[in-house]
Amino acid sequence: MYNLLKGKRGIIFGALDSNSIAWKVAERAHEEGAEFVLTNAPIAMRMGTINELAEKTGSQVIPADATSLEDIQNLVDKSVEILGGKIDFVLHSIGMSVNVRKGRHYTDQKYDFTTKGWDVSAVSFHKVMSVLYKSNAMGEWGSIVALTYMAAQRVFPDYNDMADNKAYLESIARSFGYFFGRDHKVRVNTISQSPTPTTAGQGVKGFDGFINYAEKMSPLGNATALECANYTISLFSDLTRKVTLQNLFHDGGFSNMGVSEAVMEYFTEEE
Ligand SMILES: NC(=O)c1ccc[n+]([C@@H]2O[C@H](COP(=O)([O-])OP(=O)(O)OC[C@H]3O[C@@H](n4cnc5c(N)ncnc54)[C@H](O)[C@@H]3O)[C@@H](O)[C@H]2O)c1
Repeated sequence: MYNLLKGKRGIIFGALDSNSIAWKVAERAHEEGAEFVLTNAPIAMRMGTINELAEKTGSQVIPADATSLEDIQNLVDKSVEILGGKIDFVLHSIGMSVNVRKGRHYTDQKYDFTTKGWDVSAVSFHKVMSVLYKSNAMGEWGSIVALTYMAAQRVFPDYNDMADNKAYLESIARSFGYFFGRDHKVRVNTISQSPTPTTAGQGVKGFDGFINYAEKMSPLGNATALECANYTISLFSDLTRKVTLQNLFHDGGFSNMGVSEAVMEYFTEEE
């Protein structure tokens, strides 16, 4: 490996099980020499296998519901203490729609569900950054990354209200990124990742069709969770210090395609 994160301290949200994108980021960050704290919602501690990851990477786990300012403050304070200094990188890898879970159609949302999903998937990013910013807990030239999906820009009917949540999340990255850059020289970006078979990904209706279609459309094929982790590491490293306020597509080229020959073939009648 390259020692890209040697001496850096981080907080990684969202590792549920070994399929999680955050799980791969944690493994790669460990390989690159970083020390970090792992965190997830208290309920995920029971459902997932995060302790296995903690053991593997020599990390501590601090539960935090990312919608609770109190939990986040506790997480940030303890992380600075455990890691012995300010934080250099943060991964926000959190998403959940109650409407999707309960099978509510986009046109027929239950708005309590909508509000909850928005809080978990989008506002939590603002809350995390707000606590870090006000506590002056980020080191200079630090890097904050959140994961997103292209349904923020284009229509994917079954992505439901998560599309709106992702649009909001990407906007927060720009708006907060301005203040974080100006005041603390911290960069804030979102990575727009290919469909990936994880718990959150597979919760989307028609996921199999979706992932196969993207694979056929993308000149380089879909990006895997491990490839996403590698890209994330590059954004945490000192090699990307002036990249900020960006939504960065990590999707094998999918986002700039109109149609591919592989997809066209499927619709072309034989002569
Ligand atoms: N899988 C995909 O196809 C795909 C594509 C693009 C972007 N993303 C994004 O990547 C991120 C990670 O998802 P994943 O695919 O690795 O799935 P995942 O299910 O492994 O991760 C989602 C995580 O969110 C956590 N979470 C939910 N509610 C929370 C709360 N209140 N507080 C703290 N954590 C909470 C879950 O416990 C889980 O660890 C999400 O933002 C997702 O939208 C996923």
